Amino acid sequence: MRPSSYKAIVDEFAASIRSGTLPAGTRLPTHRALTRERRIALATATRVYAELAAMGLVVGEPGRGTFVRVRSGYDGLEPSRVLPVPRVADLSFNQPLGEGQADRLRQSLRALSVSGEVEALLRQDPPGGRLHERAVVATYLLERGIDTAPANVVITSGTQQALDAVLRSLTRPGDVLAVDALSYPGIKLLASAHGLDMVPIPVTEKGPDLAALDSLCRARPVRAIYAIPTLHNPLGWVLDTEQRERFVAIARSHDCLIVEDGTYAFLDASPPPPLHTLAPERTCYVAGLSKNAAPGLRFGFAVLPRPHIETVTRSLRLAAWGAPGLITAVATGWLADGTVARWERDRRDDAAARQDIARTALAGMSCTAHPVSYMVWLGLEPHQRPDHVAALLAEVGILVSTADAFATGSHHPRGLRLALATPPREELGLVLRRLREVIEAVPP
Ligand SMILES: Cc1ncc(COP(=O)(O)O)c(C=O)c1O
Repeated sequence: MRPSSYKAIVDEFAASIRSGTLPAGTRLPTHRALTRERRIALATATRVYAELAAMGLVVGEPGRGTFVRVRSGYDGLEPSRVLPVPRVADLSFNQPLGEGQADRLRQSLRALSVSGEVEALLRQDPPGGRLHERAVVATYLLERGIDTAPANVVITSGTQQALDAVLRSLTRPGDVLAVDALSYPGIKLLASAHGLDMVPIPVTEKGPDLAALDSLCRARPVRAIYAIPTLHNPLGWVLDTEQRERFVAIARSHDCLIVEDGTYAFLDASPPPPLHTLAPERTCYVAGLSKNAAPGLRFGFAVLPRPHIETVTRSLRLAAWGAPGLITAVATGWLADGTVARWERDRRDDAAARQDIARTALAGMSCTAHPVSYMVWLGLEPHQRPDHVAALLAEVGILVSTADAFATGSHHPRGLRLALATPPREELGLVLRRLREVIEAVPP
């Protein structure tokens, strides 16, 4: 028998995994077994599994082997396409939506349809938004502790587009981007798309290890640092003022750009000053209305140091021109008339109530969470392989994300990220108790 080619083996495994012939959780042959079965070198076997891991199809567990991965919502698939179950409790993605929001949207669209502004919506907005709309965002940002001129704000189609435009225009392929060792999955996608060298910053439960960040900046030419200082995704931390000042001092002394993500910051009613306020000359602050209004709205913005406005705007124009006028009209209307502020207050109460439910349901388990955040980081025991646990949970209709989605370095801790915002609040306790039963039933 001729030895199989590396590419043929990868294709064969990929087809079997995608068709379900090798279901999630299946343990694949060891590297040595694969070398014998396929008559290939050990380095080739390693390359096969590395390629399958890069395709998101398998995961390696040190000392245990290589397993077919469970695909989470973060793979870009609809939960209903991932799971053949009629009812899914989605703990993999936060979609907070309050009562009455659909009615509010109906009202706004009706009001817009009879206003004089309708014709203006047919005309093209300048990329980054009209100045009066940017002024509405600037006024809203005062509540968040950011005092900036409307000219420093650009409006985007969601936070993700703001992040994309910032990285696309202010970094070059090969630049070093420092990111917390566990962080928002979207930043990983962007770093890879823009050819950035993403380097993990070790983390503790209280925030990034700042001494390690400083050493990293001494050892490598770090161009930018991505940070979520308030209500971190997934760990929930809120950095105190001292940590923020130290963070900014490190960025200044190594001349790094700071990309500050304030997506969940609204959940903290009185957070310490944003990094943007401490270092406006080097901080690009990005946020949006996905978690405080509605993720389907796709409205976001960036607050930029003045010298970067033009390049970032050019990059927005190149991508998708920013946010559509209709969406911008609805979103800025809600920002200006206090609707968003009201929803934010409701969300704070909702998140705190959901955390209480989680604390009770998961008491005694290894949880890292902030009392007003919408997420819990759940550490697992050594015998509870995250991928396997996620597959078992999927079988009972509970979707979760494993550490793989969040890990920015090669170390993937043994944990799950639970997003608490999506299931109806009255069902959350039940869902979490079921989750606990499934996890605790995994045999040692
Ligand atoms: C930290 C963080 N940043 C950005 C985003 C993306 O936000 P948007 O929906 O506004 O693009 C998310 C979404 O979950 C997030 O958690």
